[in-house]
Order: sequence, then structure tokens, then C-alpha cells
Amino acid sequence: MNLDSILSINKRNLDVISVYNPRKFFPLVDDKIRTKDILETAGVPYPSTIAVVQNFFEIEDIFKILLEKESFVVKPARGRAGGGILLVEKDINNNWKTPSGRNISREDMKTHFGDILFGVYSFGRMDDRVLIEKRVIPDDFMLNIYKRGIPDIRIITFKGKPVMAMLRIPTDRSDGKANLHQGAIGVSIDMKSGKTGSSVMSGKRIEIHPDSGVKISGLKIPFWNEILSISKLSSREVPLEYIGVDIVIDRTLGPLVLELNARPGLQIQVVNKQGLVPLLEGV
Ligand SMILES: Nc1ncnc2c1ncn2[C@@H]1O[C@H](COP(=O)(O)OP(=O)(O)O)[C@@H](O)[C@H]1O
Ligand SMILES: [Mg+2]
Repeated sequence: MNLDSILSINKRNLDVISVYNPRKFFPLVDDKIRTKDILETAGVPYPSTIAVVQNFFEIEDIFKILLEKESFVVKPARGRAGGGILLVEKDINNNWKTPSGRNISREDMKTHFGDILFGVYSFGRMDDRVLIEKRVIPDDFMLNIYKRGIPDIRIITFKGKPVMAMLRIPTDRSDGKANLHQGAIGVSIDMKSGKTGSSVMSGKRIEIHPDSGVKISGLKIPFWNEILSISKLSSREVPLEYIGVDIVIDRTLGPLVLELNARPGLQIQVVNKQGLVPLLEGV
């Protein structure tokens, strides 16, 4: 890997983000509830919202709605890197559980909502909203790789064009979430063919999924062309030119956009063994 080709944090912030992503537009993508309005305008599908909680006193009413659901996802609207996200399902005794089997009591959930509302997981602000979403059910391709939680596909777009991609697969440690910071695996994707290549977990190269034992290279990502078009459509709808688009594949709905990132992480280069600089220069 040619070192000059690597986009460092400084270079990303100074030469890319400060030039191509005007700060005043960050709030459009830093808040997942606002992002859904943009996706709606772009005609891009996304997981449907079950409820939005703004105040502590709404929690009891929301719990009544949630107790009717088999599964759902709780997110801080302005969270990042998987912080504060809970994938929840109901067991036969009506208890809430996360993919790793952790029990969430009603009291735990109330505390968690409180933490989100007080901004514990949010971009340096003192308040936030709780976004409760329909839980995406993975298609067979993703289920065959790993069953607890959903892998996502991160696409970096520059000036509306997809330049680099990776598949991120949850692990037992990441508790269903596909964020590398939570312990998920990053897998390179060839942009032309949509085929997976080499993988990295916690900075180490790996060949098979440590929990499911499945080999993760040489797999063709389903809906690859549709995923590329969806990343173009969503990134062209925001006044930001360097974006990380997160996409999941729902069993019945196909590809859905989870969120857009104005400061996407740089580990994607390690995963792909390729620097972003020449790719951005080539756009
Ligand atoms: N609606 C959902 N259904 C199932 N899993 C989800 C859902 N939303 C998020 N996740 C899981 O959590 C991860 C992080 O979600 P995301 O919306 O991208 O937030 P963040 O900004 O924290 O990365 C996703 O990659 C996915 O694995
Ligand atoms: Mg994300």
C-alpha cells in the first residue's frame, strides 16, 4: 500500500471535509430523524419509524406500543459508531433481550431512554431524541454468514459517486451491531463485481467469522447494482460531497439506507488495503 495514497485523519479533515462538507449542513445527517426526510425526498427506502421519544414523560405510553412488537431497534437520533443502539426482541415470557441474550428489564430500558434523552450518546450536545425503528430482518445471504444481528454495507461516495465499499459483519461481541468500534468485522468489497475479499477484526486479518465459522471472502453481495444506485441517489440529495452511506438488506424490502455520515471513518482503507486519496482525485 502506497503511503501517499492513504487519507489520514488530518488530511480528511483539512482537505476533504472542510472543503467539500460545509459545517452548516452537518445537522442534516447528524440527526437520523432528519436524514429520513432527506431519504424520503430522494425516493430511497429506509427502515420505518415506530416512534420518536422527546420527553421522559412519554416513555410509559411508548412502552405500551413496544410491548406489542416482536422486535425493534432503539437509537439515539444523534448517536454514532453504534453507541447507545439496542437491537431488541421479545422472548416467550415477554422479556426484552438483545442478540447476545442480555436481558433488558423495563427499568433498564427506561434508564437507557433517559440516557439518550440527556445526550449521553450524542455529538457533544446535552439533549437528544430516541428513535425507535422497525428491526430489519436479514435476507438469507446475510443470515448464512451470521445470525445474531445485521451486517451493513458502508459505501463512501465523493461528489455523488461511490468510490470505496466494505461489508461490516456483527460478532457476538458487537451485540448485533455492524460498527467496527463495537467489534464487528470489516470485509473489502470489489466495486465492479460486488465480491467480498479480505477481512479485518479489531485490527487483525481474519479468514472466517470467529463465531459462525463461515468463510467470508469470495461472496457476491446480492443487489450490488441497486446498492450502488441507492448510495448515489441518497448522497446526491444532501449538500455534502464526501459521505459514508450505510445500507442493510431486508429480507422482504431489499436494500434500505440506515444513515448517512458526514465524517466517515478511515479504517475502510485498511480493510480494502487501498488508500482513498487517488480514488478521490480520480472523481
Ligand atoms: N433498524 C435496524 N434493524 C436492525 N439492525 C439495525 C437497525 N438500525 C441499526 N442497526 C444495526 O446497528 C448498526 C448501527 O446503526 P446506524 O443506524 O448506522 O447507527 P450509527 O450511527 O451508530 O452507526 C447497523 O450497522 C446495524 O448493524
Ligand atoms: Mg452507521
